[in-house]
Amino acid sequence: MWGIELDRASEQPLKRQIYQKLKERIMSGQIKSNDALPSTRELSQFLGVSRNTVGESYDMLIAEGFVISRQGAPTRVADGLSITKTYTAPFVNALPKQELKADFRTGRPDLRQFPQFLWRQLLHKASEELPLALYGYTGPQGLPALRTEISEWLLRSRGVTVSSDDIFITAGATHALHLLADLLCENGKKVLMEDPCHSGMLQTFILKGCPVVPVPVDSQGMQTQGLPDGKDACAVYVTPSHQFPLGGILPASRRAALIRFARENDLYIIEDDYDSEFRYCGEPIAPLYTMDPQLVIYVGTFSKTLFPALRIGYVILPKPLHRQWSVLRTHTDVQNPPFEQAALADFLRMRKLDRHVQKMRRIYGHRRQVLMEALEDSFGSGWTAYGDAAGLHLAIDFPGKCFAETFQESCLQNGIYIKSVENHCMEKGRHQSKLLMGYGHLEPEEIRNGILILHDYLEAAAAHASRAGDDTKSI
Ligand SMILES: Cc1ncc(COP(=O)(O)O)c(C=O)c1O
Repeated sequence: MWGIELDRASEQPLKRQIYQKLKERIMSGQIKSNDALPSTRELSQFLGVSRNTVGESYDMLIAEGFVISRQGAPTRVADGLSITKTYTAPFVNALPKQELKADFRTGRPDLRQFPQFLWRQLLHKASEELPLALYGYTGPQGLPALRTEISEWLLRSRGVTVSSDDIFITAGATHALHLLADLLCENGKKVLMEDPCHSGMLQTFILKGCPVVPVPVDSQGMQTQGLPDGKDACAVYVTPSHQFPLGGILPASRRAALIRFARENDLYIIEDDYDSEFRYCGEPIAPLYTMDPQLVIYVGTFSKTLFPALRIGYVILPKPLHRQWSVLRTHTDVQNPPFEQAALADFLRMRKLDRHVQKMRRIYGHRRQVLMEALEDSFGSGWTAYGDAAGLHLAIDFPGKCFAETFQESCLQNGIYIKSVENHCMEKGRHQSKLLMGYGHLEPEEIRNGILILHDYLEAAAAHASRAGDDTKSI
């Protein structure tokens, strides 16, 4: 209907995508003044989304005056809408996502490097050899063979000793957080979260109805001195090995402070260890979990080391949570499918993950270097990289610049996918000069080109703002 296609893999909410697509059609004149929009029921059925989602996107259009809604009549496009060049800047061309010229999305591993052939063989083997008993309900904890291999992998890669009895397989870290929200957040108890943090993880707690309290983050991770009163809280969410998005490693003194805080307030720490395998100098950081396995719930994922669509992650749970977790998992989605678990267990047993991570660490480390050099070539010394040498993205501070709320959208219109740190902030206004640049999934040439394109766009946007008399340095 009206060529609206939704990208369900996008981090942009569906309601925003619908709103954006409709707005573009109105602005370009494809949908004309006084045209009636489809009813929310019609469009929601067509797009396979809820009526609420469509309703909310219509509300956004109404609020901005693009359409008018009258009781009992269809929602219509407003009269006299000037389709001006000033709304979308003169140098802006609307581009569908597949035509991205520069793609700095975060958290994307390079799928082109994944050993697909071997993976297909292992999946085939699993489907041929899996005993029929494993076709049944095999329990919410996950295949024992995979849990054993994960415990050995944790020992090899992180020096963590953990019994496979304490490991529970999940459908990725996001799923783990969903279940933890159900498990821990009772009676309006709050979750204390790093601010900024991954907006997807924040949404997970918010959508579960958990009140979230922001705790500020600096270049070293959560500022534990900024922890609020913990009496009404049930958990603290942290990414101590590589803070998302600013990249800091939580120093020992803050780790100790966090453990003390959890003990004093009788709450759990949720340690999201989403990409710490990719550290480019020095040894991997020991997880916070090792400081107090009774208080720290460790969340791991194979989304970055292997591929996101695998949807396999795990939690290491303190014993008192085992039973309730099993009940919740059983009544949520029962268990993970066995074939991928069996293939992954083989992949780990054959030390293929060790080799893949080693190879990717080299590749990503080089790309990180390429990104820093490209930034220097284009921006000279007018930027600072935040955080430590780890992960698949960098947070870059451009002192003196201010990336406005509309920045991401205008970039997208110009074929550039990039987010500012501010997109991931609960309290706005503290990180407006920082951009996030995912580089793991890009070849060196794509990184260099991307930075040139971004540089030209920023120059053009700044010139445009100054012609328009905007001296706030806001882009
Ligand atoms: C901080 C953080 N936690 C968790 C995840 C999601 O992991 P999963 O794919 O296992 O749900 C991401 C994904 O980018 C992330 O950045």
